[in-house]
Amino acid sequence: MRRAKISIIGAGNVGATCAHWAAAKELGDIVVLDIPEKEGVAKGKMIDLACCGPIERFDSRIVGTADYKDIAGSDVVIITAGLPRKPGMSRDDLIETNVKIVRSVSEKVAEFAPESCVIVVSNPLDAMVYTAWKTTGFPTNRIMGQAGALDVARFRTFIAWEIGCSIEDVQALLLGGHGDDMVPLPRLTSVHGIPVSELLPAEKIQACVERAKVGGGEIVKLMGTSAFYAPASGSVQMAEAIIKDKKRIIPSAAYLDGQFGHKGLFVGVPALLGAGGVEKVVEFKLTPEEQELFDASASHVEELVGVVKRMFPDLA
Ligand code: NAI
Ligand code: 2OP
Repeated sequence: MRRAKISIIGAGNVGATCAHWAAAKELGDIVVLDIPEKEGVAKGKMIDLACCGPIERFDSRIVGTADYKDIAGSDVVIITAGLPRKPGMSRDDLIETNVKIVRSVSEKVAEFAPESCVIVVSNPLDAMVYTAWKTTGFPTNRIMGQAGALDVARFRTFIAWEIGCSIEDVQALLLGGHGDDMVPLPRLTSVHGIPVSELLPAEKIQACVERAKVGGGEIVKLMGTSAFYAPASGSVQMAEAIIKDKKRIIPSAAYLDGQFGHKGLFVGVPALLGAGGVEKVVEFKLTPEEQELFDASASHVEELVGVVKRMFPDLA
């Protein structure tokens, strides 16, 4: 049987950690690509990771490179290339630099891995997904962004800490863009089927909502750069769903064609991920309050995409 192939662009914190999780799950062969000046870093990290194989028991072929020819035949490409934020910066502050990077990477992905599904991670996330879509010209089902997998994992973690239960028993859903106005949904959060509102007072639930919304910023403040373990874990969860055709429903930045009242926008919604990439956006009825919060988050994404279009008219 042919092994799946995952290529990761950017051998920095998120990219190298994606490779780590993908290898640990033995998802397939792995290529990690960085710019020529960082080729040694990409190669060195991947030799180091490959040498975990005998201990962790994976047989994946793992390669670091600066040559796009090595990504040929990829089933999934994860784009992590770009600047991360520093303390005091918002994700939006990265837009100009990262559009240029994501655009140049996407051109190469379209050329060398034209059949791949692309998971964008670079920030500001939703605008970078748009950039990758416009640049590659891929159908919308094969372009998506990782944010919700991470953001909902943060929310579930904070709820589990508060209750003192296993994170495995906390189910939750989160919508919207990857910004501080993302929309965790307490109404659809449960602990082994029990509504969370039965187990925690409203103010504790709200505190978990707020902490999830600024969860990325909390980590940037503590360590001077952005998170990578959970962002990479979320990205590989999406890649696994695609590679194994699992039909998992994972909050992802997916293209909306009227769902949830929005059209022509990539934003975080429950997406059914399988061999076809985003095979379906799973729509359901929001309460008026949830819809209002989702609309506000989506309009922030629209503004950011507007900035991309103004700065780079060829992407309009
Ligand atoms: P990092 O600085 O550790 O790594 C970025 C890597 O991208 C560097 O090795 C750099 O050389 C490489 N790179 C830059 N231009 C490139 C190009 N043209 N081609 C190939 N590689 C290139 O940064 P980190 O922490 O890995 O973050 C990467 C991106 O992911 C940032 O934009 C960050 O904001 C974003 N991020 C997104 C998250 C999400 O949930 N969507 C969560 C965490 C980070
Ligand atoms: C995060 O949420 C910064 O987007 C990054 O950790």
